[in-house]
Order: sequence, then C-alpha cells, then structure tokens
Amino acid sequence: MCTHGDFLQAWTCLPEAVRSGRAAFEVHTGRPLFAYLEAEHEAASVFTRAMNASVAVDALLDGVALSGTERVADLGGGEGALLAALLCRHPNMEGVLFDLPHVVSGAGPLLRERGVADRCAVVGGSFLDGVPAGADVYLMARVMQNWPREGAARILRNVSRAMGDSSRLLIVGHLPEGRDTTPFLQAMSLYMYVLYGAPLRTAEEYGKLFAETGLTLHAVHRVEDGESVMDVRRA
Ligand SMILES: C[S@@+](CC[C@H](N)C(=O)[O-])C[C@H]1O[C@@H](n2cnc3c(N)ncnc32)[C@H](O)[C@@H]1O
Repeated sequence: MCTHGDFLQAWTCLPEAVRSGRAAFEVHTGRPLFAYLEAEHEAASVFTRAMNASVAVDALLDGVALSGTERVADLGGGEGALLAALLCRHPNMEGVLFDLPHVVSGAGPLLRERGVADRCAVVGGSFLDGVPAGADVYLMARVMQNWPREGAARILRNVSRAMGDSSRLLIVGHLPEGRDTTPFLQAMSLYMYVLYGAPLRTAEEYGKLFAETGLTLHAVHRVEDGESVMDVRRA
C-alpha cells in the first residue's frame, strides 16, 4: 500500500499540504482518502488487503482483559479481520461490525471463512452521524488517527452517547510519547499527516479530546513502535 500509485505519489504534494492545511493525499487526488476509496476500486482493494493483513490483534489481546465481555462493536472495522480474530478467541462473544455501507458490504466472505458470521451483526453507517448502542466494548482500531481535531471530536461524542455506564472504548493505534517519540513513530506520524492531514496524537493530546467529549482515559497498554491500546470510559 505504501508504495502503490496515489498512496506514494501523494508525498509529492507535501509542500502544498503544509501551505494550505489540507491533507497531501487530498491535494494530490482532489478527494479525501475515504471518498477516493469509495470510487477507486483497485486502490480500495489494495487498502483493504493491507488492513486485513496487518490487524493489531496481539496488542489488543495482550493489552486488555476481555473476559466477561458479551458484545463488542468494532467501529470503522473494515471487513472485520480484527473482530473475527477476537470472536475466534472468545467463543461466547458476539460482535457488531460497523463501517461505511460500501465497506461492510464486502465483509461476508471473510466473516464466513473465519467461522464467525453467525455471531456477528453487520451494520453500515457513518460514525460521524452516530454508532450502534448496547455494546460492552467499543473498539476503534487505527481509526482515531485518521481524523483531524474536528472530525475526531465529532466521532468521540457519538461514541460517548452510545456507551452505557459500564461500557469501555478501546482505541488501538500508534501512540507517540512527545519528545521521546521513536523514529518509526515519527515516520508513521508524517505518513498519517500525508494521508489524512492529522499527525499522530500523544496520550495527553487525546486526554484533551476526551475531556471535551464526555470521556476519560482509564488505562494505557503501550507498545513501543507497535500499536498501543487506550482503555477509555465515560467521564
Ligand atoms: C485505517 S482503516 C482501519 C480498519 C480496521 N479498523 C483495522 O484496524 O484494520 C479506517 C476505517 O475507517 C472506516 N471509515 C472511514 N470513514 C468512516 C465513517 N465516516 N464511518 C465509519 N467508518 C469509516 C474506513 O472505511 C476504514 O475501514
């Protein structure tokens, strides 16, 4: 994915992105990444295969105890590769896969192949408008880092509204540590800036977003140079 077509060529628009405040990918293609993927099927297939092949299942399973969880909603869950891995490890758990309608419409084969389709509801929608209620655990893997501040706050407000008093929100993704950020995470941060116009956030920066959206950071499972897990609750 990193070296494919527009994903690579977007880097040539980095100077204009810095000047204009728009994502380099959007400057290069004329569309934000997810709108572009809806229309460009070959690139969407490359993106989806990259996501499915690199899910952060170990960070999630090592980082947080999920026993006792009955219902997990994976928001922006793509075709469900991470959710399927989770459901395979927890045979009594049920899942809700939530993503844009044209993305979840392709999820059936993967969920059936992994043997979890009968325990997994599939819901198409936009988390900018709202998310399904009633899950014990809400999962957002490699999703919050796709959004500049305004979109990120809107998504978190919608998740906060859907959460019950005992629900947890698990945010999975790269989590830099300010001045101590490793070269790899600096590179990831620059790549997120090129694709989405949003560099990676530190836990402190997330903390400010949580405070504005009715949430609070409960615990962090940190994986250096890997994907970390933030365990977030309603404030
Ligand atoms: C970087 S991918 C991560 C996919 C998956 N969570 C993973 O870790 O492999 C971000 C996902 O967010 C989804 N997404 C983007 N905009 C969305 C929206 N408005 N509502 C719901 N999902 C959205 C994309 O379709 C994509 O599947």
